[in-house]
Amino acid sequence: MDQFNVQLGVRSYPVFIGNTIARDLGTSLTHRFPKRQFALVTNATIAKLFTPIIAQWKEQFSPLMIIIPDGEQYKTIATWQYVLDKMLEAKLDRSAVMLAFGGGVVGDITGFAAACFMRGVDYVQIPTTLLAMVDSSVGGKTGVDHAWGKNLIGAFHQPKMVWADTAFLDILPEREFNAGLSELFKYAFIGGGGMFSFISDHFGLLLKRDRAVLAEGIRRSITIKAHAVSGDEREETGRRTILNFGHTFGHALERECGYTGILHGEAIWWGMRCACDMGMRLKTIPEASLPLYEMMRKKMIPISPPKGVGDDALFQAMFSDKKTTAGKLHFVLPTEPGSVMIKNDVPKDAVINTLRHVLINI
Ligand SMILES: NC(=O)c1ccc[n+]([C@@H]2O[C@H](COP(=O)([O-])OP(=O)(O)OC[C@H]3O[C@@H](n4cnc5c(N)ncnc54)[C@H](O)[C@@H]3O)[C@@H](O)[C@H]2O)c1
Repeated sequence: MDQFNVQLGVRSYPVFIGNTIARDLGTSLTHRFPKRQFALVTNATIAKLFTPIIAQWKEQFSPLMIIIPDGEQYKTIATWQYVLDKMLEAKLDRSAVMLAFGGGVVGDITGFAAACFMRGVDYVQIPTTLLAMVDSSVGGKTGVDHAWGKNLIGAFHQPKMVWADTAFLDILPEREFNAGLSELFKYAFIGGGGMFSFISDHFGLLLKRDRAVLAEGIRRSITIKAHAVSGDEREETGRRTILNFGHTFGHALERECGYTGILHGEAIWWGMRCACDMGMRLKTIPEASLPLYEMMRKKMIPISPPKGVGDDALFQAMFSDKKTTAGKLHFVLPTEPGSVMIKNDVPKDAVINTLRHVLINI
């Protein structure tokens, strides 16, 4: 089992990554949080798929079970309130420790409930999707969606521990796995030349879900994310901005698709292709590096293009993103392999040309 720390002063926390480590969770929890009450939040699908390990955890640390419906459409204030209602009904107090057992949706809702219950209680992330393992379980962004947009209601609230067991990924549906791979790819683009080479060299094994290579990919991704988060915990100094690579386009696409029919990771995949296209157009990518980007593009899993989206609507949707400030769009664009730059002055026609080339006219 690998262990390293996300360094955030008094809010630092350990991340554990390993293969079949779920059964050791009880020992770690009771050691770290002695005499505390636990509330385990998960969704109906995961509760069914992982009945044996949940039964083991019930014996080990008797959590209050809170089961929410499965799906992004339930990442709402109503579900968040349901979780809080259950905590209050069970008369849990400020010493409660919440456990988020699931993908990014369960993690975001549980983290937000933990941020608000009794003005804030401890919580632990136990990610079960690749996307949650490489990305959403670390960094402390929590929240729910609103009819006006994704993740518009939320709070920064860091977990006390992250427990990532790669064995959970064995039964993750292929589409979800590929959506997680897309976030892993993101770290290749932003995480330095070493990560770029790691992903391009190990791509075949990642696709085969080789547990050792996956664990290494997760470790590298979280280390990169932890570094960005340590320097910019609340997204104020700009260091965290690189994590939004592909997201200006991706979030607009999700919004235009009405948050249905396209997974977050799929939208980010298209968003990263747009960012690379724009990098070529605006020549932020040095000429000599273009073949490396082309090689990476070919490795990215083909995902069917979204239907019925228009370039102008997508452009307008970009302004609804909460990362837009003072009406300016911020683009994270590739430079040398593994490095990016932020550009705030991209002309509209360059954005439209990229959208047409990558998303519309294909
Ligand atoms: N907080 C952050 O920093 C951050 C970062 C990126 C994404 N997100 C959020 O994460 C969410 C997407 O997360 P996601 O991609 O994990 O989706 P998800 O949580 O919806 O999970 C995907 C599906 O896989 C199922 N599932 C989960 N684990 C499984 C397993 N091991 N085996 C079989 N099925 C399993 C789930 O029940 C669900 O149906 C979005 O809401 C996005 O906004 C948050």
